[in-house]
Amino acid sequence: MTNQEYRIAVFAGDGVGPEIMNEAIKVLTTLADKKNIRISLKDGLIGGSAYDAFGTPFPDQSLNLALESDAVLLGAVGGPKWEGLDYSVRPERALLGLREKLGLYANLRPVVVFDELVDASPLKKNLVQGIDIMILRELTGDVYFGKPRGVSKDKDGLRTGINTMIYNEEEIRRIAVRAFELARARRKSLLSVDKANVLESTELWRSVVTETGRDYPDIELKHMYVDNCAMQLVRNPSQFDVIVTTNLFGDILADEAAMLTGSIGMLPSASLGETSALYEPIHGSAPDIAGKNIANPLATILSVALMLRHSFNMPQEASWVEKAVADVLKEGWRTQDIYSAGTKLTGTEEMGTAVVRQLVSRIF
Ligand code: IPM
Ligand code: MG
Repeated sequence: MTNQEYRIAVFAGDGVGPEIMNEAIKVLTTLADKKNIRISLKDGLIGGSAYDAFGTPFPDQSLNLALESDAVLLGAVGGPKWEGLDYSVRPERALLGLREKLGLYANLRPVVVFDELVDASPLKKNLVQGIDIMILRELTGDVYFGKPRGVSKDKDGLRTGINTMIYNEEEIRRIAVRAFELARARRKSLLSVDKANVLESTELWRSVVTETGRDYPDIELKHMYVDNCAMQLVRNPSQFDVIVTTNLFGDILADEAAMLTGSIGMLPSASLGETSALYEPIHGSAPDIAGKNIANPLATILSVALMLRHSFNMPQEASWVEKAVADVLKEGWRTQDIYSAGTKLTGTEEMGTAVVRQLVSRIF
């Protein structure tokens, strides 16, 4: 068997990005060393730090690095320093550029409530215990990329802003296929979320998802309007397993669902295309706590686990990382965002070291 090398582009980004990425890389390189997995890590600049160096948040060399890699690991982008910039060079554009150029149309956002953190949720314990939801958000279509878009002024000086909510059936079908496949690997139920009672683009969404479902007779497919889904996520979240939805609805529902866990610092994500993939924590760059060794590195470490599973087909290794994280929580270690009385407060770096220690003991 050939010992394949996995090429990983590392974009630590802005704010807490570099600190949390250090810890994720520590975990990844430990695993690679112990299990003889060949990886090559190449750093690139993206977001505000790229803007400071090159005058653009998404330089060509970063795009090329991403294109040449088997997977991209990303920390976070953005911060108040760049908020006044023109929309076209804001750090967030780098994220949208990566999604578009790498064709990362399938965004997986697992929402898992760890038993040890159940008290961190703003919802009652009995509502959130055991929650394990997979949100699959379409990521390269919809109003995020639809044209026409922009702000214009008519001859009387009246300004009009426009964005276009648009999907063609191929875009819907490919994300629907991913959704049914995900559902098949889990509890065999799929919920598609739309606003088909009002919006034609999502009326088509509902039809195409339903058509695609004919190839998956073993999966139970249901549909829900987005407003109802937003309500149900808080009322009775345990009814959900795999949720597939559009780009904009997914953006909103994923943040809502993340809060069920009470700890946005814990949630990883994967953005998958046909040939590329990007892994990142869903929390942002948290500039207010950057450089203080207090950020929670666990979402980034869990993103490494998603990379092992989805890009490198290493489910065993992925679950070692996930279990190492759970073990560290069981030992009582907490960064400040998930701290509660009776647990042990620790820093970013120490948390990473604790995961490495548990990982090593799991491997042997
Ligand atoms: C997300 C973020 C991004 C989005 C922003 C930063 C462009 O909110 O990944 O959910 O809206 O998609
Ligand atoms: Mg968002």
